[in-house]
Amino acid sequence: MDLSHTSPDSTPAVLVHIDFRNPRFNEELDEFRQLAESASLSATRVISGHRSVPHARLFVGTGKVEEIRAAIAETRSRVVVVNHELSPGQERNLEKACGCRVLDRIGLILEIFAQRARSYEGKLQVELARLERQSTRLVRGWTHLERQKGGIGLRGGPGETQLETDRRLIARRMKNIHARLEKVRHQRQQGRRLRRRNTTPLVSLVGYTNAGKSTLFNRLTGAMVYAADKLFATLDPTLRQSRVAPDRTAVLSDTVGFIRHIPHGLIKSFHATLQEVAEADLLLHVVDANAEQRDLHMQQVNGVIEEIGAGAVPQIIVYNKIDMNPQLQPRVEMHNGGAPAVWLSALSGTGVDALCGLMARVLQPLPEIEELHLPPGAGALRARLFEFGAVSREECDERGGWIIQVSIDPRALRRIAREQGLEMDALRTGCDSL
Ligand code: GTP
Repeated sequence: MDLSHTSPDSTPAVLVHIDFRNPRFNEELDEFRQLAESASLSATRVISGHRSVPHARLFVGTGKVEEIRAAIAETRSRVVVVNHELSPGQERNLEKACGCRVLDRIGLILEIFAQRARSYEGKLQVELARLERQSTRLVRGWTHLERQKGGIGLRGGPGETQLETDRRLIARRMKNIHARLEKVRHQRQQGRRLRRRNTTPLVSLVGYTNAGKSTLFNRLTGAMVYAADKLFATLDPTLRQSRVAPDRTAVLSDTVGFIRHIPHGLIKSFHATLQEVAEADLLLHVVDANAEQRDLHMQQVNGVIEEIGAGAVPQIIVYNKIDMNPQLQPRVEMHNGGAPAVWLSALSGTGVDALCGLMARVLQPLPEIEELHLPPGAGALRARLFEFGAVSREECDERGGWIIQVSIDPRALRRIAREQGLEMDALRTGCDSL
């Protein structure tokens, strides 16, 4: 059963969460329920248990399988969701033993992504991630693809098995998606180039899922982006130009909600979309001020930010939803050396003006005169700096490179250097940077 194609009514599901001596068991169970809900599943029963290691064939023990089977029969559930990563064999064996579809955690997250993807690129990325996963788990027919193609003349030679046909169909489909993604990425790249040429700063909203990113994005841009009380309501970054001060505009990008244990392969799949975060001039790290696990969520988000190479991008911490707690007041906190923080309510708008003021201050262009030592291989960087009109003086050095004087916003300079794979420290000191 494909969850993304079921009716809007939720699908009854048995949830399975095993405790491998995990101190965060309860918290992860709560999050699991929320995830299932986000995938339009209604938990009819939650089955948990303790194990020291997963059962090799079934992941859970045979006694637990009996319990799951009984729960399916009693509750007429149509799917079993296991909050762990299953090997293809375990998933298959468990499906056979339970007599219904089994989804593991990655499968569940992919279903949510599939249901939430709105842009063309996002949809292609999800489909590719699903196909990649499916190709390692092939046992049955890949019949819906056959139907798409009309099912005629798809088989290879007379000796080709169903499995071989399936593999070939998936490989062909994946190749096709790769080609389409390449085209979209090219367009995205062109958009980025245009944006850079006019040096409009890029501000990316990041945060744990459900923190209120889309709501804040709407508030800041006046755009109507889908905001719903479900995890991952946003999958694709949505870009909008916004005026943060009378003389200052920025491009705002709303991004996918982060969550702990985002499977590594998935981060790779969404790399192109998450690149917007890595290339941002400023991150608004949106936090649900009332979340019980607030600090943990922030750590998780910072972990993903590091992983996608955005660790050096400056942040403003936005503590959101203060309207839900009368003890919280709108305020700005400046921390020495740390990221500044703003307490606000994206829903009511309280405190949003203070955020705009802070953003305008942080994004103030600060042209600085710098001397850079460009090695001979840095011709492309030199050309870009001339394109920006940033070069005021230039001389050749004995290595065949250049010593140039530039006047440019240091953020823009850092971004352009990074684009060319060059480190600012090396450019400043003249030590080999290629
Ligand atoms: P994902 O896309 O799932 O990562 O979510 P998100 O971070 O974009 O959150 P979204 O803006 O969709 O908001 C999640 C829920 O929180 C929605 O029900 C919002 O109405 C609610 N919400 C957002 N901001 C506020 C706020 O300031 N106050 C209150 N009370 N609710 C808020």
